Amino acid sequence: MVIALGSDHAGLSLKNEIIEHFKKKDIEFKDFGTYTIESCDYPDFGEKVAVEVAKGNYNLGILVCGTGIGISIAANKVPGIRAANCSDTFSAHACREHNNANILTLGERVVGVGVALDIVDAFLNATFEGGRHTFRVNKISDIEKKYN
Ligand code: RB5
Repeated sequence: MVIALGSDHAGLSLKNEIIEHFKKKDIEFKDFGTYTIESCDYPDFGEKVAVEVAKGNYNLGILVCGTGIGISIAANKVPGIRAANCSDTFSAHACREHNNANILTLGERVVGVGVALDIVDAFLNATFEGGRHTFRVNKISDIEKKYN
């Protein structure tokens, strides 16, 4: 499993904590930036990671901004992306199990590092349950097609 990572300046520090966490756990990743604390725009990094995940170049994505909200809204504009902004571990595994979320977004200004890393683990360790959820997730794709 290879994870695509991205953040804006407000999510850089938490993204770096996630990178250290991945190194310790031997989880493969690629960091698509930003790499400095210079102010930048979260849609740029949301789009970069979302396109890579939508193309199938990476299994899952993790994006961080101040709230996790802006970067999730941006990522969700890319067809095929189901980005979930989570602040708790229940949502983090449920969004994989029920919604087949392919990107997790986090808010550095919302959750502490310890909780954030637990959320990351819950997201990565969960799997889509299929069954009745497949039909519902397909309905999301249908909406996407209807307005494209
Ligand atoms: C940057 O100040 C902040 O607006 C951004 O990181 C994010 O929280 C937007 O949703």
